[in-house]
Amino acid sequence: MAELSAPADYIERVSSVQREDRWWVEPFITTVVYSLFILYGLLRVFENQFSHWGPYLAPFYSPPVAEWLGLNRLLPLSGAFYVAAFPLLFRASCYYYRKSYYRAFFWDPPACAVRERKRHYRGETVFPFVLNNLHRYALYFAILILFFLWYDAIVAFYWNGLRIGIGSVLFVVNCVFLTLYTFSCHSFRHLSGGNLDCYSCVDGGEERHAFWTTISKLNKRHGLYAWVSMLTVWAADLYVRTLSSSGLPQGSGIW
Ligand code: FES
Repeated sequence: MAELSAPADYIERVSSVQREDRWWVEPFITTVVYSLFILYGLLRVFENQFSHWGPYLAPFYSPPVAEWLGLNRLLPLSGAFYVAAFPLLFRASCYYYRKSYYRAFFWDPPACAVRERKRHYRGETVFPFVLNNLHRYALYFAILILFFLWYDAIVAFYWNGLRIGIGSVLFVVNCVFLTLYTFSCHSFRHLSGGNLDCYSCVDGGEERHAFWTTISKLNKRHGLYAWVSMLTVWAADLYVRTLSSSGLPQGSGIW
């Protein structure tokens, strides 16, 4: 049979699916939401403004290493530019996200019992997918960044004294879901005890097993935490950006 063009290939594959449920809804929603998130992330990385408002530091600009090291005096790039690579690598190499973007963007395959797009599969041996092998190292940076985000959430309760604003609460909710997402990671589960063949053969084996069991329970909901934490970090950053660009007096009102 002659080689089909890409759109014709998609149509031919979709029309040959025998599933009668709406299997295409999940990849469709995933494509739309991930694309919007990526576009928003790019805007923030290159925007280079609206990163602070009162006691709030926008999560995309945290930690503010560019300010600490005076990097923005050397290069006129946004603070987000210097930190974005780490959470980006962490999410892009996450086992859950890999499954969902391979399905949504590459149709590889788009759903169970749906034929995949014909392509020359080379695994994760070529750039950029070879970077997925760095997931465990990205986890170490994600834990470090999480520490700074919790610090920002605590600082968000102080502005000329103690205050509780909508943003402070939003920061805490964001940190809770980011913590659940980070520590339900498959690599963290491996480190917590999944790398052991015999718990009774090592010191503290019983405690390791109990810890691994807890992480395994979290791990079952890793996909849910991946989604919710993406939405909360997006909401928290957009919230700070909106306040910062609004001209409202810093740290005023219930905001
Ligand atoms: Fe998803 Fe590690 S597997 S963050």
